[in-house]
Amino acid sequence: MLPALTGDEARHSAALTAAIAAEIAAAGGWLSFERFMELALYAPGLGYYSAGSHKIGAGGDFTTAPEMSDLFSGCVARQCAEVLAASGGDILELGAGSGRMAEAILTALAAHGPLPEHYSILEVSADLAERQRARLEALPASLRARVRWLTGLPSGFRGVMLANEVADALPCRRFVVRGGRVRELGVVAGPSGALGEAESDAAPALAQQIGRLEAELGAALPEGYVSEVCLRADAWVASLAHALESGALLLFDYGLPRRHYYHSERATGTLHCHFRQLVHDDPYVNVGVQDITAWVDFTRLALAGTGAGLSLGGFTTQAAFLLATGLEAAVAEAPSDVERARRAGEARRLVMPEEMGEAFKVLALTRAIAQPLSGFALQDLSHLL
Ligand SMILES: C[S@@+](CC[C@H](N)C(=O)[O-])C[C@H]1O[C@@H](n2cnc3c(N)ncnc32)[C@H](O)[C@@H]1O
Repeated sequence: MLPALTGDEARHSAALTAAIAAEIAAAGGWLSFERFMELALYAPGLGYYSAGSHKIGAGGDFTTAPEMSDLFSGCVARQCAEVLAASGGDILELGAGSGRMAEAILTALAAHGPLPEHYSILEVSADLAERQRARLEALPASLRARVRWLTGLPSGFRGVMLANEVADALPCRRFVVRGGRVRELGVVAGPSGALGEAESDAAPALAQQIGRLEAELGAALPEGYVSEVCLRADAWVASLAHALESGALLLFDYGLPRRHYYHSERATGTLHCHFRQLVHDDPYVNVGVQDITAWVDFTRLALAGTGAGLSLGGFTTQAAFLLATGLEAAVAEAPSDVERARRAGEARRLVMPEEMGEAFKVLALTRAIAQPLSGFALQDLSHLL
């Protein structure tokens, strides 16, 4: 059972649910899941990411790797340093959450170099951008001066683009295989205004994608099979690729190569919700006060990048990436035994297969950089994409 909402949360959720129900009515009674997820997460002033709930980190709804430990950001910083040494330029972080990774990366690069000219943040949530500003205000002035918030992608970007757990937050489509056909799952409102799921004919773009997917897999998906497709990821990665003149795009997230993602036994999809550190699978409750997310089809991201002219720089597990970028040394060089024990505990959570080590992956897409990225030196699973 999920914990009860506070009075404010209940009012907030009721207001967003009513706004979504109104859009469903205006659309003729049915809304695609993609549009529902967009409203639930990003409706101005009311969506989960647009409004003020605590969201990320201890005391929030979920914890990400950079929130769990600065060891993660230290490893990412070492990978950034390698690219910046080769290409110069900036770091651009997409969807920077609380700003903790930005703070940790700048602090690490101030100590070991090279610092980026700018650390830019592109954030769709005004609420989170405000929190990032408040946090990064505390950086030393020489570092703070490098941080800026962008309202759109720059052109001719040189350096490193980073996105941790952003692709999983892009609104996705849902489908079910029924009577041998693809049906799209969407959202309807009942007489009381409560939201629920209903099937409709699949949008042509979705039906086409599933047709292609089945051809790639060499088999039809089984009857009753439910899953997700994030069509928006294509345009998102392509836009980043077009902005990247030289350097690397590093995407960190939970997900799988396509063949594993759409395995016939993964028959109920990957969609899940986060509320006060609990994970569940009902996106129609707590609307606007819980996170909704789906796993990432990394083959889709890789194809979108290579289709836009980028090279595949590597694909591996979070564990292999962190171990290849100096995680063990960062634990060993702790200044005291107590600190070493603390770091060792955090490192375990980041790399153990039953924690974040295997489910989370890292994909690198590059342009105009010659040397291989050391994050993929221990293990490169690109052949699985
Ligand atoms: C799950 S949170 C991850 C936050 C942070 N990167 C971390 O790891 O703690 C998703 C973040 O992506 C942002 N976001 C979602 N879609 C985005 C987009 N298209 N461009 C930039 N940021 C986006 C959200 O506002 C939020 O900051």
